[in-house]
Amino acid sequence: MTTITLARPDDWHLHLRDGAMMRAVLPHSAAHFARAIIMPNLVPPVVTSAQAKAYRDRIMAALPEGMSFEPLMTLYLTEDTDPNDVAAAHASGLVKAVKLYPAGATTNSASGVANFDAVRPTLERMAEIGLPLCVHGEVTDHDIDIFDREAVFIDRVLDPIRRATPGLRVVMEHITTSNAVDYARAQDGTLGATITTHHLVINRNHILAGGIKPHYYCLPVAKREEHRLALRNAATSGAARFFLGTDSAPHTDANKLLPCGCAGCFTAPNTMSILAQVFEEDGALDKLEGFTSKNGPAFYGLPVNTSTITLTKIPPTFPPHVDSDDGPVTVFDPGFDLTWSVQ
Ligand code: DOR
Ligand code: ZN
Repeated sequence: MTTITLARPDDWHLHLRDGAMMRAVLPHSAAHFARAIIMPNLVPPVVTSAQAKAYRDRIMAALPEGMSFEPLMTLYLTEDTDPNDVAAAHASGLVKAVKLYPAGATTNSASGVANFDAVRPTLERMAEIGLPLCVHGEVTDHDIDIFDREAVFIDRVLDPIRRATPGLRVVMEHITTSNAVDYARAQDGTLGATITTHHLVINRNHILAGGIKPHYYCLPVAKREEHRLALRNAATSGAARFFLGTDSAPHTDANKLLPCGCAGCFTAPNTMSILAQVFEEDGALDKLEGFTSKNGPAFYGLPVNTSTITLTKIPPTFPPHVDSDDGPVTVFDPGFDLTWSVQ
């Protein structure tokens, strides 16, 4: 096969940031994706519906002339979140999900949740109105090994929350383990799981063997090869509960290459080329459209995009960096030559 046409993809987990960084990275997502779930971990975080509305307006103002893109806004869940504000933001159509960061789990998560009982009224309201909860699924306990934090979160936090809040729609975001794949497969249709492009390509050796590679450091951190293979298997299986959330997370090179560097891989420019290759290698090109364009809308109760995107078997070239007024941002290097271009 040398050409594939898909319903235009959506990105169900994206960091656009704000200001100069947003202006630099937004065109790369808008070039390929019709819509994206926009992460609210700005400084300060997007907690209220008024903040989400203002952020949405800034995104639309930064969109280059002639490009179309629909930001699907989220609210950052805190222990002080007002369930009425969440319900109003949902009813107005502004907000499509609420994001749960365990306090301290990742970039700008300090205002996240430490006491899960405190957010129970909001979660119950969300279950009533059908508003999904997007979950960064890692415990933050210092005594839990970083490579085990996702598996422990499923047992200690996620499963208890879901049992206590029947009907709550939950997205397990950027899953990285076979434990998460197995858990997701065993649940009903109230559970979805996103998988990033980079977790289909790298394992922990890419970060740590032969020298430390900060550009492959993200959270949750990539795990052993057996986990990467479980993710590939889930993504390419066609199962409706797995869909693309790139977690494209730009940081300037200056902030990545520090003694304590930031977590995040910037994959927006080359995600579609990488995915076409991954699915082709696994003999699953016919499942690519489900993963990038159909399963996500089905979970969120939104229509599949009527516009399309075409990929052709022509080696693409990507610049190693995208420049922003804050400094260069390194584009994710999959470590192999790409063969599919977006037309
Ligand atoms: O690698 C990551 N980067 N994981 C996250 O959870 C947050 C993100 C970011 O905002 O940089
Ligand atoms: Zn993220």
